[in-house]
Amino acid sequence: MRISVIGCGYLGAVHASAMAVLGHDVVGIDVDERKIAQLRAAQPPFFEPGLAEILANATSSGRLAFSTDIEDAATADVHFIAVGTPQSPGSNFADLTYVDAAFASLVPHLREGALVVGKSTVPVGTAQRLAALLAARAPHASLAWNPEFLREGYAVKDTLEPDRLVYGVGDDHAASVLDDVYRTAIDAGTPRIVTDYATAELVKVAANAFLATKISFINAMSEIADATGADVTALADAIGHDARIGRRFLNAGVGFGGGCLPKDIRGFTARADELGLGESLAFLKEVDAINLRQRQRVVDLAVGLLDGAPNGKRVVVLGVTFKPESDDVRDSPALDVAVQLRGLGADVVATDPEGIENARGRHPQLAYVESTDEALRGAELVLLVTEWREYRDLDPQRVASLVATPRIIDGRNVLDPDAWRAAGWVYKGMGRP
Ligand code: UGA
Repeated sequence: MRISVIGCGYLGAVHASAMAVLGHDVVGIDVDERKIAQLRAAQPPFFEPGLAEILANATSSGRLAFSTDIEDAATADVHFIAVGTPQSPGSNFADLTYVDAAFASLVPHLREGALVVGKSTVPVGTAQRLAALLAARAPHASLAWNPEFLREGYAVKDTLEPDRLVYGVGDDHAASVLDDVYRTAIDAGTPRIVTDYATAELVKVAANAFLATKISFINAMSEIADATGADVTALADAIGHDARIGRRFLNAGVGFGGGCLPKDIRGFTARADELGLGESLAFLKEVDAINLRQRQRVVDLAVGLLDGAPNGKRVVVLGVTFKPESDDVRDSPALDVAVQLRGLGADVVATDPEGIENARGRHPQLAYVESTDEALRGAELVLLVTEWREYRDLDPQRVASLVATPRIIDGRNVLDPDAWRAAGWVYKGMGRP
């Protein structure tokens, strides 16, 4: 099929490459000339495991092109809108500027029978509004909403082998076109849910709200565990054995961040308020508050371990990205903690395998060091806040010989407290005795 993907960020660049690998003819469109130049040269503009390989494969097959000119999308039959919907400045609402702009620029180029497919995460009601616009301006085209569930770090696998497909459609034809797009996954038995626009839009935000709630639930338990001497990791293991609960997304720590979970729960509550249903989602405000409190807990723990006097102390922050296997620092709890400690006067040195460039762009006031060993040298306190494999595998004996004072906060509960204490460290986890 001939496909265009509008917006080549974390979602669109992967989607465009994956669709070409699946055999479709794809053009990726973005207004960012630098990004398009990189993609044309088969260079991923961000770190995502496996993207370089599928990008190279798709580009060399001749089935993947990139452009900054929306006119180059005109020959496509299916157009995916994959632009960002960040939190609006100064409010909790999702900012639809980019979706509306992409849509407006595309409409004049739609061929007879074209299908516009929204992938961006939007407030419920958006697809209905855009479908009405389409009916007025391009009645020969139709609209579907097909939310995306990929996780950064696993984006390639999640796109090629999704765990479910959700189509919000206005008619059966749209569903059969999407079936042709996703033929490989459908033939492999991927569950597919065909529904209306509103349900499809809600599925996406409901999924992220549920995941965020699960994380904040276990973080609330970690607060109780801290106060009572209980161990939240054993608690999570125990309740996780109940298949109705499940162990995944029950890791307590510095909390969730990234470009999705935080802004999606805020956008969802803002939309519910707008619908006069604020009470229904009031609990998500608490989920957000618990999450932000985790960052404060790590900062407070750090100040406590520095005897209340962080000023001038060398604090080493391991990890700045919002999670491992990503270079994304959007709403990163790790970076937030580093910035707060710097604000309290600590001599903060941050390191990360992939995220330094993005972190420096946002917070140039922090000192960044590439090498983990170099960062650790002379540390008076170490904070592990993004659980990259490299940090999980650190040898406490060896690291003790690098630092000035062996004190560590395990902000992701991924280290073995006994091993670190046996090597002479003061170890503090989150909700672990
Ligand atoms: C999330 C969803 O998992 C995807 O399904 C969704 O498609 C995506 O948002 C999106 O809306 O685009 P992502 O933001 O890549 O994906 O990251 P997650 O793997 O969900 O992790 C989010 C945050 O939760 C990270 O900061 C992570 O460290 C934290 N987390 C995760 C915990 O603190 N504890 C856990 O047990 C799990």
